[in-house]
Amino acid sequence: MSKIIVFEDDTPKIEVRHLETKQKSEEEVNNHLIYIDSTSELSAASRFIKNHFNKGTDQYDKWLEDFHFHLLFDEICQKYNFAGTIIDIGCGTGLGGKTILKYNNGSRITGIDFAEEMAKKAIQSGYANVYVGLMEEIVPYLSSENKKFDHVISLGAIFHLPNDIFTNFLSSLFEIAEKSITLEIDEITDEFLANVEKIQNFQASFFNNTPIVERFHLPNNWKIVLKEKNYMWTSPTTKDKIYRIFVRI
Ligand SMILES: C[S@@+](CC[C@H](N)C(=O)[O-])C[C@H]1O[C@@H](n2cnc3c(N)ncnc32)[C@H](O)[C@@H]1O
Repeated sequence: MSKIIVFEDDTPKIEVRHLETKQKSEEEVNNHLIYIDSTSELSAASRFIKNHFNKGTDQYDKWLEDFHFHLLFDEICQKYNFAGTIIDIGCGTGLGGKTILKYNNGSRITGIDFAEEMAKKAIQSGYANVYVGLMEEIVPYLSSENKKFDHVISLGAIFHLPNDIFTNFLSSLFEIAEKSITLEIDEITDEFLANVEKIQNFQASFFNNTPIVERFHLPNNWKIVLKEKNYMWTSPTTKDKIYRIFVRI
């Protein structure tokens, strides 16, 4: 929301404020959700992740305060253009879009998330629509429908995709992006996965997709303008330090 402030010299100055969204009714929220059914039954890992986020929706934003990747994304939004249409893949509660709207309040944000409770929160955060379903199916679907977005973003969601699925997924992002692609990717080390399995007796369905991005052959006319690696968090159980990579293409 912008506010005109008149200073002593009578020159009007614009102050950019956080977007304050009015609470929408349940019906209004539901009207903005677009359900895309999966072509096959969800894998056990996907069911687990979807339930995990559906159940944890109310605590999610609070939980994320301990991680500073949204502060890093805020810096990226101050440096790079996000005006126009955006698709936020694995949008969660819409924190990424909220930051974009803070600096570009005319942008129109569409989300994708398979956890409908998270998707509903994203609508409350100011998203125009959210596709509810699997990102690895919805992105190729949007491409087949010839849908384009000025900017594609995906923050903290890509580590849920197995490497073989991610490779095709990454290619399909260039079919729907007109101007930029911004990805925030967790570096999931083998050591971390082994420690999770050893300590928790649990095979985590997290995947390290950073080497795929490193090796990816960019289509013509695309180039990497930012690649930055930052420390993100320390696992409370395994004590592994997890890093994340921001890439802007
Ligand atoms: C760690 S959260 C990140 C949310 C948000 N991007 C943010 O920055 O706060 C990961 C999100 O990805 C969604 N997700 C995970 N795997 C998915 C898939 N295969 N298809 C669609 N959404 C998925 C989850 O439901 C969750 O909301």
